[in-house]
Amino acid sequence: MSSTPVGLKLTLVAMPGGGKSTVGRHLARQLGVDCLDSDSEIEKRIGMPIREFFEREGEDAFRDIESEVIAELLAREQDMVLATGGGAVLREVNREAMKARSTVFYLRSSPEELFRRLRHDTQRPLLQVRDPLKKLRELYAQRDPLYRRTAHYVLETGRPSVHALCNMVLMQLELAGLLSPDKVAATVGAEPQPRTLGA
Ligand code: S3P
Repeated sequence: MSSTPVGLKLTLVAMPGGGKSTVGRHLARQLGVDCLDSDSEIEKRIGMPIREFFEREGEDAFRDIESEVIAELLAREQDMVLATGGGAVLREVNREAMKARSTVFYLRSSPEELFRRLRHDTQRPLLQVRDPLKKLRELYAQRDPLYRRTAHYVLETGRPSVHALCNMVLMQLELAGLLSPDKVAATVGAEPQPRTLGA
């Protein structure tokens, strides 16, 4: 066997504006592993912003590429934190791949909190509507059960800083025996600047 066992593969799922990319970057830095972002990988592949691709090719075409990219990233034999797009849980094949091949954290926020963070957003195709709060509430009602079904752990984002959220993830990993206490002690408190989601 040439493959090395993979120690730590974390996937973050959440609604748009839920902090996946921000928390993912900080967490990966704290753990000394790569942060992969499925949306960035998709944009590299399609050669244009996701919003433009949605307008030209439609959501189904986007979801097909998203599934391919998620499967490919999770198949990499390396430690990683994988930040996914908010709709990654919509397809069962993605949910199964994430749950089977990684430890999944759902960063839960209320639609109202997400709206506060995203009210000036112009890039997310699904939110370019007359009433984005209503849309967020609809997406949340559909997706919250799917995030919960996919996740091994649910973290309430509320108002904690990015740093505090990362520490919660590290503590859960330690409790689950996926991270040694030495590693947690070395990383917790390593980056004390207060930083809030969406900042
Ligand atoms: C989507 C969320 C986006 C991106 C695409 C579709 C969604 O990612 O994948 O626009 O369906 O909610 P973020 O969650 O990072 O905004």
